[in-house]
Amino acid sequence: MGHGIAEVSAIAGLKVNLNDVDKKFLDNARNKIEESLEKLQAKKQLNENPENIANRITYELDLPKAVSSADIVIEAVPEKIDLKLQIFKKLDMYTKKSCILATNTSSLPITEISSAVSDPKRVIGIHFFNPPVLMKLIEIIKGKYTTEEVVNFATNFSNKLGKKHVIVNKDVPGFIVNRLLVRFMSTARLMVEHGMASVEEIDSALKYRAGLPMGVFELADYIGLDVVYFVERALSERGFPVPTDHLLEPKVKANNLGMKTGSGFYVYDRTKPRATIREELSSKISASLVLSPAINEATWLISNDVATKEDIDTSTVLGLGFQKGLLRMADEWGIDNIIENLEQLKKRLHLDWLEPHPMLNKMKNEGKVGLRTGSGFYDYS
Ligand code: 3HC
Repeated sequence: MGHGIAEVSAIAGLKVNLNDVDKKFLDNARNKIEESLEKLQAKKQLNENPENIANRITYELDLPKAVSSADIVIEAVPEKIDLKLQIFKKLDMYTKKSCILATNTSSLPITEISSAVSDPKRVIGIHFFNPPVLMKLIEIIKGKYTTEEVVNFATNFSNKLGKKHVIVNKDVPGFIVNRLLVRFMSTARLMVEHGMASVEEIDSALKYRAGLPMGVFELADYIGLDVVYFVERALSERGFPVPTDHLLEPKVKANNLGMKTGSGFYVYDRTKPRATIREELSSKISASLVLSPAINEATWLISNDVATKEDIDTSTVLGLGFQKGLLRMADEWGIDNIIENLEQLKKRLHLDWLEPHPMLNKMKNEGKVGLRTGSGFYDYS
């Protein structure tokens, strides 16, 4: 995602040094940025010519040179804690003491990453969504030691980029969006593994019935199956269990990583850059069944004061491109139906986290099942 973050920062008028470990990655980043700027220019979405924007980005192989005069550094290396700690140790050495050290980690606690630097007050999570140039959301995550001044810097930075931010109240692994995403992504894989539906049937239901911009398998291919795999492992190691299945790991081991390698859950090539998902398969499985584990997780986030219901809906709309917030959808489907879905999945998949959260049971017992009764997560008149 580094090149996307560099691009969106340069569009906002900032000077950017983009650093990577090999020239071939920097060349690839340059091509992707140029391609993307051309697309935006063609749609008249840029306020200046693309060359001016591109000229604000310097491609720098030398890390100390890249970061020594920076006001903010955003790390976007793979989701491996040892690698992140190693990078932050270097940032501690080579940056100005006033420089904000941000991580674009998808899942790792900020406090854990900040242990690598002598002054953890300046470390913060600034989490973008793929592709950063189009997705409007930024999650801002405070570590245990992050100061309010650093949070303010991050919110101003997000505003400057034209993004909408949500502040994640607690430094929980996976924050808001990835906790929700991983719940329904791994449920979808288990449903395929248990013969409940096919990859395309699930994607078709999500895309054409629930109005998601991509099916969940298509999205995994888009994000990169290696990224999904490392994020899920990192979450599992930190008390957020993600069961292993036989669909993801073999693909990662065979280097079938999704769109970037031409094959993942779907096959891609130059003439077919996007997955073909047939609409006629959309009623084979209910979209609410696949999304119910994410709704269950949302109630955990609310009950544990990590996020408000509004933050959850903002995050799913702006971070995942949903047409409606996840909890608005839950209200439409009915909380009683969500509970039934979870019970059905639990019976089949035997996973503790499929147990309906007490908050859902309470809502049902109080007759607050959503749109049908005039009250659910939201009130309706
Ligand atoms: N730069 C500029 N323009 C781009 C672009 C880019 N990088 N990518 C796509 N576009 C343009 C396309 O050219 C197209 O333009 P057109 O309308 O003029 O033809 C337009 O955007 C729409 O693209 P597509 O027609 O290819 O496809 P979609 O309409 O499906 O839109 C999408 C693409 C915006 C990616 C949409 O499918 C979407 O919102 N998908 C969900 C993405 C998502 O959920 N992201 C978050 C993942 S989780 C994450 O990142 C967290 C991490 O920690 C794992």
